[in-house]
Amino acid sequence: MHSFDEYREIINSHLTDFIADPGDEATELADAMKYSLEVGGKRLRPALLLAACEFAGGSIEEALPYALALEYIHTYSLIHDDLPAMDNDDLRRGQPTNHKVFGEAMAILAGDGLLSTAAEIVTGCPLHYCNDPEKIRNHVRAAHEIMSRAGARGMIAGQTADIKGEKLEPTAELIRFIELHKTADLITAPVRAGLMLAGSDDETLDRFTLYARDIGVAFQILDDILDIEGDQTLLGKTLGKDAEQGKCNYAFVHGLDAAKEELHRLTSEAKNSLDPYGQNAVFFTALADSLEIRKY
Ligand code: IPE
Ligand code: IPE
Ligand code: MG
Ligand code: MG
Ligand code: MG
Repeated sequence: MHSFDEYREIINSHLTDFIADPGDEATELADAMKYSLEVGGKRLRPALLLAACEFAGGSIEEALPYALALEYIHTYSLIHDDLPAMDNDDLRRGQPTNHKVFGEAMAILAGDGLLSTAAEIVTGCPLHYCNDPEKIRNHVRAAHEIMSRAGARGMIAGQTADIKGEKLEPTAELIRFIELHKTADLITAPVRAGLMLAGSDDETLDRFTLYARDIGVAFQILDDILDIEGDQTLLGKTLGKDAEQGKCNYAFVHGLDAAKEELHRLTSEAKNSLDPYGQNAVFFTALADSLEIRKY
């Protein structure tokens, strides 16, 4: 296993490996895709994928394309999330949002390009293992895990509820649905896909699924808290957007104190799910702790 910083370094040094050169007629597409990838970001999701795969005995080389696919999907979700028709944000990862630099049409296309490149990656990888049925199965499972949690039963369902929720009185149930899908699904996908690539057993998959869901929901609750009382320079995005747009923010429904309590409870629960692994799971338990106190 590596440290989080080492995983981030690996991801950053291969970040644009799969971004196609579309030729002179469409060169702006690659520029727009690379802009949002390279402008910053914690790399939480791809680091989780590499770590989960290594935890279960798999290799970084095998996992890296999937980790990049995850970061492409996450980055596309941010580009589209920032569009005027959605959250209408000007600032992302400390820099102007994609549509502010390239225009709305290019931002939509850059998002489409990143999502479809991710699909290209995860459908292409299993083809390298045609004479190893067990590996093919592991790879196809991982690919399906990523694309289904990114899709209409996952992140997109959460984003839909988030947009629809602007016009509704937020309830505890609606908030939890939004957190689980718009955010926790894209945090659960890399953990499960990384384990699947390494052919992990079902009990490990189940325990890490609980861990990932809990840190995923906690991640969104802290995102909601930081939107209210974060530091804009550290955060790299505009503060106070949720109140301005009537978003279903956890703290608006339950209060800031309850939000912080729930963040702490979920972080503890997440770590408890990995108790049987003791020190072997320290990467994941330490990560849960560091996410609880993150400022960006
Ligand atoms: C932001 O995710 C979107 C949410 C789910 C809250 P991150 O906070 O991980 O964004 P980057 O990748 O570091 O920019
Ligand atoms: C975005 O949630 C989640 C996804 C992009 C899937 P938010 O709208 O709360 O994220 P920020 O605050 O803009 O990063
Ligand atoms: Mg949003
Ligand atoms: Mg947003
Ligand atoms: Mg937010």
